[in-house]
Amino acid sequence: MQFSTHTALTIALASTSVLATSCKTYNPSREPYTQPADRTFVVSKGVVCESTTTDCRVPIGGYVTDGRTLNVSIASPGPIYDLIGSTVGYKFNDTITTWVGGESGPGIPQDWPIENGTSAYVGFTANHRCTSGTLSGCDDSSIDNTAVEACSPYDPVDISGTFQAIVSDRSAVEALTCNPANTTAAKNGNNSNTCSDTSSQIPISGASRVDGLSTLLLVGSLVVTAFGFGGL
Ligand SMILES: *[C@@H]1O[C@H](CO)[C@@H](O)[C@H](O)[C@H]1NC(C)=O
Ligand SMILES: *[C@@H]1O[C@H](CO)[C@@H](O)[C@H](O)[C@H]1NC(C)=O
Ligand SMILES: *[C@@H]1O[C@H](CO)[C@@H](O)[C@H](O)[C@H]1NC(C)=O
Ligand SMILES: *[C@@H]1O[C@H](CO)[C@@H](O)[C@H](O)[C@H]1NC(C)=O
Ligand SMILES: *[C@@H]1O[C@H](CO)[C@@H](O)[C@H](O)[C@H]1NC(C)=O
Repeated sequence: MQFSTHTALTIALASTSVLATSCKTYNPSREPYTQPADRTFVVSKGVVCESTTTDCRVPIGGYVTDGRTLNVSIASPGPIYDLIGSTVGYKFNDTITTWVGGESGPGIPQDWPIENGTSAYVGFTANHRCTSGTLSGCDDSSIDNTAVEACSPYDPVDISGTFQAIVSDRSAVEALTCNPANTTAAKNGNNSNTCSDTSSQIPISGASRVDGLSTLLLVGSLVVTAFGFGGL
């Protein structure tokens, strides 16, 4: 019993060290660039806007989770992110969850227009700061001399991005009776993008969002450039 547990542990440790990959050089092929993250988070409830004259407005905001990405599969990519980060001069932070949108600070819209005659909700897509280039001098031949793309949320603490109304079919929008980003699950990093239990909504409490506010002020200029205000 003792023995086999110990053996299993030894094997696990050995395979971890075999899988941890490192490379000596990262050679960027272009300057870093901005692009939208793959995932869009739902950050409002659904609105069926039946007005024949004006837009409807819906409160926006909630917890979104985002993190660094690498477009090749490596078991323990930490050292690769470190190499790429030190070469291009910005950090590739691991996953973060933070509140975006309404109630988080000045200049951030509290609500968002839904066009009259449409059924829609509001989505938030983070901006990623990306680099592409080639890894070389790798101890794993499967990634040696390989072109890669690595991306990170723009800021290590706050996530900047773009809000937009996403028109969808009426039944899907009607089913979204609450905001899936305004829940404890989303706060814990598990935003499922669906919400039908209105009692799940997090009451507005000063403390945590005031934190977000001071940070947002610090990065104010970045946030203002990064947000799309086109819908206002
Ligand atoms: C939306 O409002 C505009 C402006 O009042 C109006 O001209 C248009 O007919 C409305 N559209 C629908 C589908 O209700
Ligand atoms: C979050 O839920 C609270 C409590 O229901 C509500 O007052 C607030 O408007 C909601 N915020 C958003 C952005 O959905
Ligand atoms: C990863 O991204 C780089 C740069 O865009 C590209 O050249 C390469 O083909 C991509 N690799 C995979 C496996 O998608
Ligand atoms: C991101 O990395 C920077 C530099 O290592 C660190 O100061 C910061 O606290 C990190 N942020 C998060 C949210 O982990
Ligand atoms: C995340 O949420 C989904 C759907 O609500 C649930 O099935 C899953 O168990 C949750 N995962 C974690 C890690 O909490």
